[in-house]
Amino acid sequence: MSTNTIISLKDIVVEFDGERVLEGLDLDIHDKEFVTFLGPSGCGKTTTLRIIGGFVAPKNGDVFFEGKRINDLPPYKRQVNTVFQRYALFPHLNVFENVAFGLKIQKLPEKEIRTRVLEMLELVNLKGFENRGVNQLSGGQQQRVAIARALVNHPKVLLLDEPLGALDLKLRKEMQIELKKIQQSLGITFIYVTHDQEEALTMSDTVVVMKDGDIQQIGTPEDIYNEPKNAFVADFIGESNIVPGIMKKDFLVEFAGRDFECVDSGFTPMEQVDVVVRPEDIKVVPTIAGHITGIVENVTFKGVHFEMEVLACGTHWLIHSTQSQAVGASIGMQIGPEDIHIMHKMEE
Ligand SMILES: Nc1ncnc2c1ncn2[C@@H]1O[C@H](COP(=O)(O)OP(=O)(O)OP(=O)(O)O)[C@@H](O)[C@H]1O
Ligand SMILES: [Mg+2]
Repeated sequence: MSTNTIISLKDIVVEFDGERVLEGLDLDIHDKEFVTFLGPSGCGKTTTLRIIGGFVAPKNGDVFFEGKRINDLPPYKRQVNTVFQRYALFPHLNVFENVAFGLKIQKLPEKEIRTRVLEMLELVNLKGFENRGVNQLSGGQQQRVAIARALVNHPKVLLLDEPLGALDLKLRKEMQIELKKIQQSLGITFIYVTHDQEEALTMSDTVVVMKDGDIQQIGTPEDIYNEPKNAFVADFIGESNIVPGIMKKDFLVEFAGRDFECVDSGFTPMEQVDVVVRPEDIKVVPTIAGHITGIVENVTFKGVHFEMEVLACGTHWLIHSTQSQAVGASIGMQIGPEDIHIMHKMEE
Protein backbone atom coordinates (compact mmCIF):
# COMPACT_ATOMS: atom_id res chain seq x y z
CA MET A 1 0.00 0.00 0.00
CA SER A 2 1.59 3.29 -1.02
CA THR A 3 1.67 6.20 1.43
CA ASN A 4 -1.18 8.19 -0.05
CA THR A 5 -3.57 5.26 -0.42
CA ILE A 6 -6.88 6.27 1.13
CA ILE A 7 -8.96 3.18 0.36
CA SER A 8 -7.72 -0.30 -0.19
CA LEU A 9 -9.76 -3.33 -1.18
CA LYS A 10 -8.11 -6.70 -0.63
CA ASP A 11 -9.46 -9.85 -2.23
CA ILE A 12 -13.08 -8.74 -1.99
CA VAL A 13 -15.58 -11.48 -2.79
CA VAL A 14 -19.32 -10.75 -2.91
CA GLU A 15 -22.04 -13.31 -3.51
CA PHE A 16 -25.76 -12.79 -3.89
CA ASP A 17 -27.90 -15.92 -3.61
CA GLY A 18 -24.82 -18.09 -4.07
CA GLU A 19 -23.82 -16.26 -7.23
CA ARG A 20 -20.43 -14.54 -7.34
CA VAL A 21 -20.67 -10.89 -8.19
CA LEU A 22 -17.16 -9.80 -7.22
CA GLU A 23 -14.39 -12.29 -7.81
CA GLY A 24 -11.64 -11.31 -5.36
CA LEU A 25 -11.17 -7.64 -6.14
CA ASP A 26 -7.87 -5.91 -5.27
CA LEU A 27 -7.72 -2.15 -5.60
CA ASP A 28 -5.87 0.81 -4.10
CA ILE A 29 -7.41 4.25 -4.38
CA HIS A 30 -5.23 7.27 -3.74
CA ASP A 31 -6.06 10.39 -1.81
CA LYS A 32 -7.45 13.26 -3.96
CA GLU A 33 -7.73 10.98 -6.96
CA PHE A 34 -10.63 10.97 -9.41
CA VAL A 35 -11.19 7.26 -9.98
CA THR A 36 -13.80 5.85 -12.30
CA PHE A 37 -15.25 2.34 -12.39
CA LEU A 38 -16.14 1.63 -15.98
CA GLY A 39 -17.79 -1.49 -17.32
CA PRO A 40 -20.93 -2.96 -18.83
CA SER A 41 -24.19 -3.32 -16.95
CA GLY A 42 -24.06 -5.95 -14.22
CA CYS A 43 -20.25 -6.13 -13.97
CA GLY A 44 -20.27 -5.10 -10.29
CA LYS A 45 -19.60 -1.35 -10.28
CA THR A 46 -22.39 -0.42 -7.89
CA THR A 47 -21.61 -3.40 -5.69
CA THR A 48 -18.00 -2.22 -5.38
CA LEU A 49 -19.20 1.25 -4.37
CA ARG A 50 -21.53 -0.30 -1.82
CA ILE A 51 -18.65 -2.27 -0.35
CA ILE A 52 -16.71 0.98 0.09
CA GLY A 53 -19.76 2.79 1.49
CA GLY A 54 -20.47 -0.06 3.89
CA PHE A 55 -23.90 -0.98 2.51
CA VAL A 56 -22.80 -4.47 1.48
CA ALA A 57 -20.61 -6.78 3.55
CA PRO A 58 -18.09 -8.86 1.60
CA LYS A 59 -18.16 -12.64 1.93
CA ASN A 60 -14.41 -12.56 1.92
CA GLY A 61 -11.74 -9.87 1.94
CA ASP A 62 -11.00 -6.61 3.71
CA VAL A 63 -11.70 -2.93 3.25
CA PHE A 64 -9.13 -0.45 4.56
CA PHE A 65 -9.53 3.27 5.04
CA GLU A 66 -6.26 5.12 5.64
CA GLY A 67 -4.69 1.83 6.62
CA LYS A 68 -7.38 0.82 9.15
CA ARG A 69 -9.64 -2.14 8.52
CA ILE A 70 -13.21 -0.85 8.39
CA ASN A 71 -15.19 -3.99 7.50
CA ASP A 72 -17.24 -3.65 10.67
CA LEU A 73 -17.70 0.12 10.57
CA PRO A 74 -21.31 1.07 9.70
CA PRO A 75 -21.87 3.42 6.74
CA TYR A 76 -22.62 6.52 8.82
CA LYS A 77 -19.29 6.23 10.62
CA ARG A 78 -17.27 6.04 7.41
CA GLN A 79 -15.78 9.29 6.06
CA VAL A 80 -17.50 8.57 2.80
CA ASN A 81 -20.69 9.92 1.27
CA THR A 82 -22.69 8.75 -1.70
CA VAL A 83 -24.53 10.44 -4.53
CA PHE A 84 -26.94 7.87 -5.92
CA GLN A 85 -28.17 7.65 -9.44
CA ARG A 86 -31.65 8.49 -8.21
CA TYR A 87 -30.93 11.56 -6.19
CA ALA A 88 -33.37 10.66 -3.42
CA LEU A 89 -33.96 14.25 -2.36
CA PHE A 90 -36.59 14.83 0.32
CA PRO A 91 -39.54 16.11 -1.72
CA HIS A 92 -41.22 17.92 1.15
CA LEU A 93 -38.09 19.90 2.06
CA ASN A 94 -36.72 22.91 0.22
CA VAL A 95 -33.20 23.17 -1.17
CA PHE A 96 -31.69 24.58 2.02
CA GLU A 97 -33.32 21.95 4.23
CA ASN A 98 -32.26 19.13 1.93
CA VAL A 99 -28.63 20.15 2.14
CA ALA A 100 -28.85 20.94 5.87
CA PHE A 101 -30.47 17.63 6.77
CA GLY A 102 -27.36 15.67 7.81
CA LEU A 103 -25.92 18.57 9.77
CA LYS A 104 -29.19 19.01 11.70
CA ILE A 105 -29.09 15.36 12.67
CA GLN A 106 -25.60 15.93 14.01
CA LYS A 107 -27.10 18.83 16.01
CA LEU A 108 -24.57 21.38 14.83
CA PRO A 109 -25.26 25.02 15.85
CA GLU A 110 -27.77 26.79 13.55
CA LYS A 111 -25.23 29.37 12.55
CA GLU A 112 -22.64 26.85 11.45
CA ILE A 113 -25.26 24.90 9.52
CA ARG A 114 -26.28 28.05 7.70
CA THR A 115 -22.71 28.97 6.79
CA ARG A 116 -21.88 25.51 5.54
CA VAL A 117 -25.06 25.04 3.53
CA LEU A 118 -24.69 28.41 1.82
CA GLU A 119 -21.06 27.68 1.09
CA MET A 120 -22.02 24.39 -0.58
CA LEU A 121 -24.86 25.90 -2.57
CA GLU A 122 -22.43 28.47 -3.87
CA LEU A 123 -19.99 25.73 -4.81
CA VAL A 124 -22.60 23.91 -6.89
CA ASN A 125 -23.87 27.14 -8.44
CA LEU A 126 -27.21 27.26 -6.65
CA LYS A 127 -26.83 30.48 -4.71
CA GLY A 128 -30.26 32.06 -4.25
CA PHE A 129 -32.15 28.77 -4.60
CA GLU A 130 -32.33 28.07 -0.84
CA ASN A 131 -36.10 28.42 -0.51
CA ARG A 132 -37.11 26.60 -3.69
CA GLY A 133 -38.94 23.32 -3.39
CA VAL A 134 -36.86 20.55 -4.92
CA ASN A 135 -39.73 19.66 -7.24
CA GLN A 136 -39.44 23.12 -8.76
CA LEU A 137 -35.92 22.40 -9.99
CA SER A 138 -34.62 21.01 -13.26
CA GLY A 139 -32.93 17.61 -13.32
CA GLY A 140 -29.50 19.24 -13.39
CA GLN A 141 -30.34 21.50 -10.46
CA GLN A 142 -31.69 18.57 -8.43
CA GLN A 143 -28.48 16.75 -9.13
CA ARG A 144 -26.50 19.71 -7.77
CA VAL A 145 -28.58 19.68 -4.59
CA ALA A 146 -27.76 15.99 -4.18
CA ILE A 147 -24.07 16.75 -4.62
CA ALA A 148 -24.18 19.66 -2.15
CA ARG A 149 -25.98 17.44 0.35
CA ALA A 150 -23.33 14.74 0.02
CA LEU A 151 -20.46 17.22 0.37
CA VAL A 152 -21.76 19.38 3.20
CA ASN A 153 -20.37 17.25 5.98
CA HIS A 154 -16.93 17.28 4.39
CA PRO A 155 -16.40 13.60 3.54
CA LYS A 156 -12.90 12.58 2.56
CA VAL A 157 -14.30 10.46 -0.21
CA LEU A 158 -17.36 11.00 -2.38
CA LEU A 159 -18.93 8.02 -4.13
CA LEU A 160 -20.93 8.88 -7.24
CA ASP A 161 -23.04 6.20 -8.88
CA GLU A 162 -23.85 7.26 -12.46
CA PRO A 163 -24.80 10.68 -11.13
CA LEU A 164 -25.38 12.17 -14.57
CA GLY A 165 -27.26 9.23 -16.05
CA ALA A 166 -30.63 10.99 -16.09
CA LEU A 167 -29.42 14.19 -17.77
CA ASP A 168 -29.46 15.01 -21.45
CA LEU A 169 -26.17 15.05 -23.33
CA LYS A 170 -25.51 18.79 -23.21
CA LEU A 171 -26.25 19.15 -19.51
CA ARG A 172 -24.25 16.01 -18.87
CA LYS A 173 -21.17 17.53 -20.52
CA GLU A 174 -21.56 20.74 -18.48
CA MET A 175 -21.95 18.81 -15.25
CA GLN A 176 -18.89 16.69 -16.06
CA ILE A 177 -16.78 19.82 -16.17
CA GLU A 178 -18.38 21.21 -13.03
CA LEU A 179 -17.93 18.00 -11.08
CA LYS A 180 -14.28 17.86 -12.02
CA LYS A 181 -13.87 21.48 -10.87
CA ILE A 182 -15.61 20.76 -7.57
CA GLN A 183 -13.37 17.75 -6.98
CA GLN A 184 -10.25 19.77 -7.66
CA SER A 185 -11.28 22.79 -5.61
CA LEU A 186 -12.19 20.65 -2.59
CA GLY A 187 -9.17 18.39 -3.01
CA ILE A 188 -11.08 15.22 -2.08
CA THR A 189 -11.25 11.75 -3.56
CA PHE A 190 -14.04 11.01 -6.02
CA ILE A 191 -15.00 7.45 -6.88
CA TYR A 192 -17.23 7.64 -9.89
CA VAL A 193 -19.27 4.96 -11.65
CA THR A 194 -20.25 5.09 -15.28
CA HIS A 195 -20.72 2.85 -18.26
CA ASP A 196 -19.96 5.73 -20.61
CA GLN A 197 -16.37 5.37 -21.79
CA GLU A 198 -16.08 8.95 -23.02
CA GLU A 199 -17.18 10.26 -19.65
CA ALA A 200 -14.63 8.04 -17.92
CA LEU A 201 -11.82 9.14 -20.21
CA THR A 202 -12.51 12.87 -19.90
CA MET A 203 -13.02 13.09 -16.15
CA SER A 204 -10.71 10.60 -14.49
CA ASP A 205 -7.18 10.46 -13.21
CA THR A 206 -7.52 6.69 -13.06
CA VAL A 207 -9.93 4.37 -14.84
CA VAL A 208 -10.73 0.90 -13.52
CA VAL A 209 -12.20 -1.24 -16.29
CA MET A 210 -14.39 -4.06 -14.98
CA LYS A 211 -16.03 -7.12 -16.48
CA ASP A 212 -17.95 -9.92 -14.75
CA GLY A 213 -16.89 -8.89 -11.25
CA ASP A 214 -13.24 -8.67 -12.13
CA ILE A 215 -10.84 -5.85 -12.88
CA GLN A 216 -9.51 -5.98 -16.43
CA GLN A 217 -7.20 -2.99 -16.29
CA ILE A 218 -6.32 -0.04 -14.07
CA GLY A 219 -4.62 2.97 -15.60
CA THR A 220 -4.72 6.57 -16.71
CA PRO A 221 -7.18 7.37 -19.51
CA GLU A 222 -4.21 7.52 -21.92
CA ASP A 223 -2.94 4.10 -20.81
CA ILE A 224 -6.32 2.53 -21.14
CA TYR A 225 -6.95 4.02 -24.55
CA ASN A 226 -3.49 3.59 -26.04
CA GLU A 227 -2.38 0.40 -24.34
CA PRO A 228 -5.48 -1.69 -23.66
CA LYS A 229 -4.50 -4.91 -21.92
CA ASN A 230 -6.89 -7.17 -23.76
CA ALA A 231 -9.45 -7.21 -26.52
CA PHE A 232 -12.31 -6.58 -24.08
CA VAL A 233 -10.78 -3.31 -22.87
CA ALA A 234 -9.86 -2.27 -26.40
CA ASP A 235 -13.37 -2.90 -27.59
CA PHE A 236 -15.08 -1.32 -24.61
CA ILE A 237 -12.97 1.83 -24.62
CA GLY A 238 -13.37 2.76 -28.23
CA GLU A 239 -14.30 1.36 -31.54
CA SER A 240 -11.60 -1.07 -32.55
CA ASN A 241 -10.79 -3.58 -35.19
CA ILE A 242 -9.96 -6.82 -33.43
CA VAL A 243 -8.68 -9.63 -35.64
CA PRO A 244 -7.02 -12.96 -34.89
CA GLY A 245 -3.29 -13.14 -35.48
CA ILE A 246 -0.17 -15.19 -34.87
CA MET A 247 2.88 -13.73 -33.16
CA LYS A 248 5.62 -15.23 -35.33
CA LYS A 249 8.47 -13.86 -33.25
CA ASP A 250 9.30 -10.64 -31.42
CA PHE A 251 8.22 -7.61 -33.48
CA LEU A 252 6.57 -9.69 -36.21
CA VAL A 253 2.90 -10.60 -36.34
CA GLU A 254 0.78 -12.26 -39.00
CA PHE A 255 -2.80 -11.19 -39.60
CA ALA A 256 -5.05 -10.48 -42.57
CA GLY A 257 -2.99 -12.89 -44.63
CA ARG A 258 0.43 -11.28 -44.30
CA ASP A 259 3.22 -10.36 -41.92
CA PHE A 260 3.38 -6.99 -40.22
CA GLU A 261 6.16 -5.37 -38.25
CA CYS A 262 5.00 -4.41 -34.80
CA VAL A 263 6.49 -3.04 -31.58
CA ASP A 264 5.46 -5.90 -29.30
CA SER A 265 7.68 -8.61 -27.90
CA GLY A 266 7.72 -11.24 -25.17
CA PHE A 267 5.06 -13.53 -26.63
CA THR A 268 5.52 -17.25 -27.11
CA PRO A 269 6.67 -17.86 -30.70
CA MET A 270 3.62 -18.70 -32.86
CA GLU A 271 1.25 -17.68 -30.06
CA GLN A 272 -2.34 -17.08 -31.18
CA VAL A 273 -3.14 -13.48 -30.33
CA ASP A 274 -5.74 -10.77 -30.79
CA VAL A 275 -4.58 -7.87 -32.93
CA VAL A 276 -6.22 -4.53 -32.23
CA VAL A 277 -6.10 -1.61 -34.67
CA ARG A 278 -7.98 1.64 -34.03
CA PRO A 279 -10.15 2.94 -36.91
CA GLU A 280 -8.24 6.25 -36.95
CA ASP A 281 -4.90 4.45 -37.27
CA ILE A 282 -5.58 2.83 -40.63
CA LYS A 283 -4.30 5.01 -43.47
CA VAL A 284 -6.20 4.93 -46.73
CA VAL A 285 -3.74 4.85 -49.66
CA PRO A 286 -3.81 3.80 -53.34
CA THR A 287 -4.18 0.02 -53.61
CA ILE A 288 -0.59 -0.57 -54.77
CA ALA A 289 0.74 1.28 -51.70
CA GLY A 290 -1.38 -0.60 -49.17
CA HIS A 291 -0.50 -3.50 -46.90
CA ILE A 292 -3.99 -4.80 -47.50
CA THR A 293 -6.55 -4.12 -50.21
CA GLY A 294 -10.21 -3.74 -49.38
CA ILE A 295 -13.56 -2.83 -50.87
CA VAL A 296 -15.50 0.09 -49.37
CA GLU A 297 -18.90 -1.19 -48.26
CA ASN A 298 -20.38 1.77 -46.47
CA VAL A 299 -19.53 5.41 -45.70
CA THR A 300 -21.07 7.60 -42.99
CA PHE A 301 -20.22 11.23 -42.31
CA LYS A 302 -19.56 11.73 -38.59
CA GLY A 303 -18.96 15.46 -38.37
CA VAL A 304 -15.18 15.48 -38.13
CA HIS A 305 -14.43 12.34 -40.13
CA PHE A 306 -15.93 9.75 -42.41
CA GLU A 307 -16.54 6.33 -40.99
CA MET A 308 -16.04 3.60 -43.56
CA GLU A 309 -16.73 -0.09 -43.43
CA VAL A 310 -14.26 -1.91 -45.59
CA LEU A 311 -14.20 -5.61 -46.45
CA ALA A 312 -10.67 -6.98 -46.62
CA CYS A 313 -9.41 -10.55 -46.18
CA GLY A 314 -12.82 -11.71 -45.01
CA THR A 315 -12.95 -9.13 -42.21
CA HIS A 316 -15.09 -6.01 -41.96
CA TRP A 317 -12.78 -3.16 -40.96
CA LEU A 318 -13.80 0.18 -39.52
CA ILE A 319 -11.74 3.09 -40.82
CA HIS A 320 -11.96 6.76 -39.87
CA SER A 321 -10.65 9.15 -42.45
CA THR A 322 -11.09 12.82 -43.29
CA GLN A 323 -11.38 11.84 -46.96
CA SER A 324 -14.46 10.09 -48.22
CA GLN A 325 -14.31 7.17 -50.67
CA ALA A 326 -16.95 5.89 -53.04
CA VAL A 327 -18.88 2.81 -51.98
CA GLY A 328 -17.56 -0.10 -54.02
CA ALA A 329 -14.11 1.46 -54.49
CA SER A 330 -10.95 -0.57 -53.95
CA ILE A 331 -8.61 1.04 -51.46
CA GLY A 332 -5.23 0.29 -49.96
CA MET A 333 -4.95 0.12 -46.17
CA GLN A 334 -1.68 0.96 -44.49
CA ILE A 335 -1.03 0.02 -40.86
CA GLY A 336 2.20 1.14 -39.18
CA PRO A 337 4.05 -0.86 -36.49
CA GLU A 338 3.01 1.65 -33.78
CA ASP A 339 -0.65 1.26 -34.69
CA ILE A 340 -0.73 -2.48 -34.11
CA HIS A 341 -1.58 -3.58 -30.57
CA ILE A 342 -1.03 -7.23 -29.74
CA MET A 343 -2.98 -8.89 -26.97
CA HIS A 344 -2.96 -12.28 -25.38
CA LYS A 345 -6.16 -14.15 -26.15
CA MET A 346 -8.56 -13.78 -23.28
CA GLU A 347 -9.36 -16.84 -21.22
CA GLU A 348 -13.06 -17.48 -21.43
N1 LIG B 1 -29.12 -7.10 -3.74
C1 LIG B 1 -28.85 -7.95 -4.74
N2 LIG B 1 -29.33 -9.20 -4.74
C2 LIG B 1 -29.06 -10.08 -5.74
N3 LIG B 1 -28.29 -9.79 -6.80
C3 LIG B 1 -27.77 -8.55 -6.86
C4 LIG B 1 -28.02 -7.56 -5.85
N4 LIG B 1 -27.37 -6.42 -6.19
C5 LIG B 1 -26.75 -6.69 -7.36
N5 LIG B 1 -26.98 -7.95 -7.77
C6 LIG B 1 -26.41 -8.59 -8.98
O1 LIG B 1 -25.02 -8.40 -8.94
C7 LIG B 1 -24.50 -8.13 -10.24
C8 LIG B 1 -23.71 -6.83 -10.22
O2 LIG B 1 -24.60 -5.77 -9.94
P1 LIG B 1 -24.16 -4.26 -9.87
O3 LIG B 1 -25.34 -3.48 -9.44
O4 LIG B 1 -22.95 -4.14 -9.03
O5 LIG B 1 -23.79 -3.96 -11.39
P2 LIG B 1 -23.39 -2.60 -12.11
O6 LIG B 1 -22.05 -2.80 -12.70
O7 LIG B 1 -23.55 -1.47 -11.18
O8 LIG B 1 -24.46 -2.52 -13.29
P3 LIG B 1 -25.28 -1.26 -13.89
O9 LIG B 1 -24.34 -0.57 -14.86
O10 LIG B 1 -26.41 -1.91 -14.61
O11 LIG B 1 -25.70 -0.39 -12.75
C9 LIG B 1 -25.70 -8.13 -11.17
O12 LIG B 1 -25.76 -9.36 -11.81
C10 LIG B 1 -26.88 -7.92 -10.25
O13 LIG B 1 -28.03 -8.52 -10.77
MG1 LIG C 1 -24.91 0.13 -11.07
